[in-house]
Amino acid sequence: MAFPQPFLDEIRARVPLTQLVGRRVSLKQRGREDWWGLSPFSNEKTPSFHVRDDKGFYHCFASGEHGDHFSWLMQVEGLSFPEAVETLAGLAGMEVPKSSPEERRREEKRKDLTDVVAFAAGWYAKQLDGPAGREARDYLKSRRLEALTVETFGLGFAPDDRESLATAAKAQGIEMPQLIEAGLYRKPDDGRSPYPLFRNRIMFPINDRRGRPIAFGGRFMGDAKAIGVGKYINSPDTPLFDKSRTLYNLDRAREPARQGEPLLVVEGYMDVIALWQAGFVAAVAPLGTAVTEHQIAELWRFHDEPVLCLDGDVAGQKAAIRAGERALPGLKPGKSLSFAFMPEGDDPDSLVNGPGGAREMNTLIKQAQPLSDFLFETESDGVRLDTPERRARLEADLFQLIGGIEDELVRKEYQRAFRDKLWQLHRKHSQTRLKQTRRQAIREMRATRNDARGPQAEQPFGRKLLETASKRLVRRRQEIVLATLVNHPALIEEFDEALDGIAFDPDLDKLRAELQKRALAGDTLDPKALTHHLIAGGAEAPLSAVTHPDVFRLAPQAKAGAEPLEARRLLEHILLIGQQSVLVGEYRTAGRLPGEEGTAADKRDLRLEALRRSVDAGEGRLGAGLSDDGEDY
Ligand code: UTP
Ligand code: MN
Repeated sequence: MAFPQPFLDEIRARVPLTQLVGRRVSLKQRGREDWWGLSPFSNEKTPSFHVRDDKGFYHCFASGEHGDHFSWLMQVEGLSFPEAVETLAGLAGMEVPKSSPEERRREEKRKDLTDVVAFAAGWYAKQLDGPAGREARDYLKSRRLEALTVETFGLGFAPDDRESLATAAKAQGIEMPQLIEAGLYRKPDDGRSPYPLFRNRIMFPINDRRGRPIAFGGRFMGDAKAIGVGKYINSPDTPLFDKSRTLYNLDRAREPARQGEPLLVVEGYMDVIALWQAGFVAAVAPLGTAVTEHQIAELWRFHDEPVLCLDGDVAGQKAAIRAGERALPGLKPGKSLSFAFMPEGDDPDSLVNGPGGAREMNTLIKQAQPLSDFLFETESDGVRLDTPERRARLEADLFQLIGGIEDELVRKEYQRAFRDKLWQLHRKHSQTRLKQTRRQAIREMRATRNDARGPQAEQPFGRKLLETASKRLVRRRQEIVLATLVNHPALIEEFDEALDGIAFDPDLDKLRAELQKRALAGDTLDPKALTHHLIAGGAEAPLSAVTHPDVFRLAPQAKAGAEPLEARRLLEHILLIGQQSVLVGEYRTAGRLPGEEGTAADKRDLRLEALRRSVDAGEGRLGAGLSDDGEDY
């Protein structure tokens, strides 16, 4: 909503900034308008946080944070701008102007919906305490939740009937359409009466960051799979609730996180709650989806380095990789993520409730791996670094990955860090060796990534390099074939069919066609006359290309003076011994990651590797290979 500027100015004038800031930072006056205190943005012992009432701004010399009344509430209390305006207008004793009837209606509606969801949360909680909630209470006990925990998180129970919530709501003046809009009831398309979304489930209210319930997660207590229902169901997105921007428990976690508690990101509601009960009060969870960029940005408002705590299974590891990649574009100086890996088979809930308890959790958090290390490991796992090309390819893959970092400083630091790591890895002649679940996740992620990128985009720089090199090789071979035929035209007829099966580069193809035409016409007995015909036929350019000295240096058997038998062996070698692929560039499909054992990719890799070796070792080697035993690749 756009607020009129005079209104905002009036607020600033009415509320002294020192008073607002003073609620959180103790300020000392130095001079007439200057106030100083310990910065809330950095951990410091000498005050570098400066506030001026007359100018209405604050400035933190330690962190560079800077702003006015509104940004203060947004930065420090985590409010949105409209929320900050609303709060400050309250302090100033002013009425927030509603700029249009439309906006007013939407605002009213949100307020209504908030009331509806709040009512439902209270009602569910009451059901948990009542006779219908007996089984649910037992269930929560079996999950080791204490009464205080249940109360803090406002847990409830949705009974197994269609009417009771609607009836109770109606008594409060809440009608069915509102229940539907709040996502509590659903209206079937076939015209039957609406039914409640949550039945016979433990209810987890999901709050906005100010602590108002806006949605629910509901857990089925029995074996959900056996009867074909979801273990959890969540409220649909509503005007109040945007799944991708909400984090479970952020309202309770943000203050302790700001004060330095580790801000943990876990997968499930129960993890958050179990952690809270075990003393980790700053844990949040996304809502059944992977962590989004929005959510990461939100977390960075409260903590520089949230720790992702991942279940010790393949799904958990994959979620980590995805989250890491999502975080990259938005990295800022000082803002990052780290990763704590739960032991295989554990999630944070089972861990803190297990024999190792909170202590083990604490150790894992302390050992959390920085994002940069995590990403490096993920990219480099299983990649051999014993050739320059392989190192180049890994470097290219790494650089492509971090190319998306928008902040230039951070990107540069990443490049430097990755180069160092690559070099260290190479120096140690080692490969990273990760745990099985992690490796499995990496493999699966790479596979989907390659699918998603498609064959085009799948070729990052390193592979492009290889492809260019190989393209040159393919072309060279085409040149060798044609040069041999030009100098030994008697062979054209013999290899006529083989020539038809090869996709020469367009310019060389012209020469190929001309050669075959001449052979057919019987013009091939005298090489000199043939050359004349070829030039007359417009194939001068490809002719001089294929008779370039480099070609003969590689394949002396193609020379005019070479033994005809040698020349023929050369052609046989290239054209007939099942190697046409090299002439038409089939290698392009072979660009799989090396080190994947036991698959067809293996064989392709061997070929690719051989091909690359011959390119790498210089084309002279290729010529040598061709001239002795034919085992050039
Ligand atoms: P988990 O299966 O890890 O559940 O799903 P959990 O939190 O450990 O729950 P318990 O311990 O079995 O009770 C993690 C999160 O994924 C979402 C929920 O947000 C859940 O907390 N989820 C899971 C769903 O939305 N639907 C499902 O059917 C399952
Ligand atoms: Mn669990």
